[in-house]
Amino acid sequence: MKTVNIAIDGPAGAGKSSIAKKVSAELGYIYVDTGALYRAVALYLTENETADADIPEALKNADISLRFVDGEQRVYLGNRDVSGLIRTPAISMAASRTSAIPAVREYLFETQKKIARENNVIMDGRDIGTVVLPDADVKIFLTASAEERANRRFRELSEKPDCPAYQEILDDIIKRDYNDMHRETAPLKQADDAVLFDTTSMNLEESSEKLTELIRSKLNGG
Ligand code: DC
Repeated sequence: MKTVNIAIDGPAGAGKSSIAKKVSAELGYIYVDTGALYRAVALYLTENETADADIPEALKNADISLRFVDGEQRVYLGNRDVSGLIRTPAISMAASRTSAIPAVREYLFETQKKIARENNVIMDGRDIGTVVLPDADVKIFLTASAEERANRRFRELSEKPDCPAYQEILDDIIKRDYNDMHRETAPLKQADDAVLFDTTSMNLEESSEKLTELIRSKLNGG
């Protein structure tokens, strides 16, 4: 039976994962955060101190997989759950760099396709609507201004003792956007048939409700 595939792409920090999690719970689909796969590859390459030239060979031994526990995605390196380890600023930057390498993208392509073939999914990333699932039933390009994304991140981190300065967070976001949009392979861009969804002036509740409505209406031919 054909599965339902919803693609959500957009820049870092636009709220893709928080929104997509709520929407997929509402629709009863699996939520797949493909950024976690790129982060797991970055962690693997960092831990093994792999030189760029050796990446294609090294990936043959990288056993990266997603498992879903009570609907929640966990990412594994072999039998090790690395879902927490991949969330550091160092791995964010490393993932932004290594995700531009064609061998890394090729390696993860089939993993993503297979999950979408076998499940009703909301899959979020940078190239889902353009490369991974070009025939997705609904495509969304979810964004927010860089300043608003930095604000949200700053608020999230402000409780922590080593919270970076707002300007540092903003610079980091701008740098990652640039990397993601200007790489040669599968750059971040809105697919021609994607709907633009801007959350700059919306909170999480409002964004999730509006997006659920939008997806339902698109699935019903709207
Ligand atoms: O969404 P995220 O910040 O967890 O993603 C981590 C990095 O992986 C980010 O720099 C972009 C990259 N990425 C990608 O190139 N393609 C995807 N489908 C998902 C993430």
